[in-house]
Amino acid sequence: MKLLVIGGGGREHAIIKKLKENPAVEVIYALPGNGGMAADAICVPEIGAKEIDKQVKFAVAHSIDYAVVAPDDPLALGAVDALTAAGVPCFGPNKAAAIIEASKAFSKDLMKKYRIPTAQYETFTDMDAALRYLDASPAPIVVKADGLALGKGVVVAQTTQEAKAAVRSMMEDKVFGASGTKVVIEEFLTGPEVSVLSFTDGETVVPMVSSMDHKRAGDGDTGANTGGMGTVAPNPFYTPAIAQECMETIFKPTIAAMKAEGRPFKGCLYFGLMLTPSGPKVIEYNCRFGDPETQVVLPLLKSDLLTVMHATTDGSLAQTPVEFSTGSACCVVLASKGYPAKYDKGFPITMTGEAAEHAYVAGAALHDGVLVTSGGRVLGVTAVSDTLPAAITEAYRLAEGVHFENKYFRTDIGKRALSAQKEG
Ligand code: AMP
Ligand code: GLY
Repeated sequence: MKLLVIGGGGREHAIIKKLKENPAVEVIYALPGNGGMAADAICVPEIGAKEIDKQVKFAVAHSIDYAVVAPDDPLALGAVDALTAAGVPCFGPNKAAAIIEASKAFSKDLMKKYRIPTAQYETFTDMDAALRYLDASPAPIVVKADGLALGKGVVVAQTTQEAKAAVRSMMEDKVFGASGTKVVIEEFLTGPEVSVLSFTDGETVVPMVSSMDHKRAGDGDTGANTGGMGTVAPNPFYTPAIAQECMETIFKPTIAAMKAEGRPFKGCLYFGLMLTPSGPKVIEYNCRFGDPETQVVLPLLKSDLLTVMHATTDGSLAQTPVEFSTGSACCVVLASKGYPAKYDKGFPITMTGEAAEHAYVAGAALHDGVLVTSGGRVLGVTAVSDTLPAAITEAYRLAEGVHFENKYFRTDIGKRALSAQKEG
């Protein structure tokens, strides 16, 4: 089998490494991929994740048997529709279903209509109306750009002043371009956050093992928001009773709602949840695997990933076993010092064989055969063990086997999860 994976980060590297476990897989092409995954896939840096016409031509020319569209942008642009029309079966939602992530106003209205628990909210296309609403609503309050904004379109404002500044920058200064034409202003919720990725074929939903992201740059959840500095799975705050409740109040109703709207969702639907004092609520939906959640979830998957992915495409998920191991995983992201603001790149990366085996590379490039840093988040190392403390210790040991100038990482990935385990 010849496979194609669209995307080029650590998430895609984790997907590729897992797909390779199937002996029927002969070759995997990554569009564009990155220099750090060259041992696992044939990278095609000339074709970017958003270049759908080129992707389709490539897939047809290389007789691709199955394609995986991993990032949000190509999904929202209709990559799955285009590949499917060209006769290439794909993993991922079509454009009509990807709107669940591409428009926050759509997803909020969906939840309201189908009574899926989420924060109270109002949607605005008129800036003055948004500003007046903020005068009448107490802070803290949350301002979200409607469209895709590289995960940066959310401002949790501690004061009305800050919320108004966020509205102005989105609607007047257009810092997120067209994504800020509409904004959603919503109630501030509290409680532990849980990421639940799920496989779905549009009818059946199978949640994967839960996980916990660490979005802030600094230890103790301080500093700027990032694309994720590390993850652990499972998430100890997510008890079996809560999982059962989420299945009945959130997961099944969401899949049924999308079907009822004529937008059946196939692929991986990501539920970003907050366990509030009044029960689990949806913070966000993503129409794809999370990054860096995938780097801890897929290493715990015991079933063959390609078989499960096929089942989401052909509608046979109910008859397909999806099993996870009972262990724990921890991923520590090694970033360039200064990320997510300014950082230098181009530094050579060296790794022990053991670290390389457990590495999912995101921001690295091959320059004359030498792997060098090329992004803010350079790579993640993932360890799997019987217990969470052992997985954390092992991930940090692996991280010591990776060297590059200006290497920066959080030292407390999994700490909050461990405290929850102790309380429980
Ligand atoms: P998102 O990009 O939608 O995941 O939002 C980024 C982060 O903002 C989330 O992971 C939460 O920590 C926070 N957040 C989003 N919505 C809310 C809310 N309604 N209340 C409190 N925090 C929120
Ligand atoms: N880790 C959050 C995301 O993938 O959006």
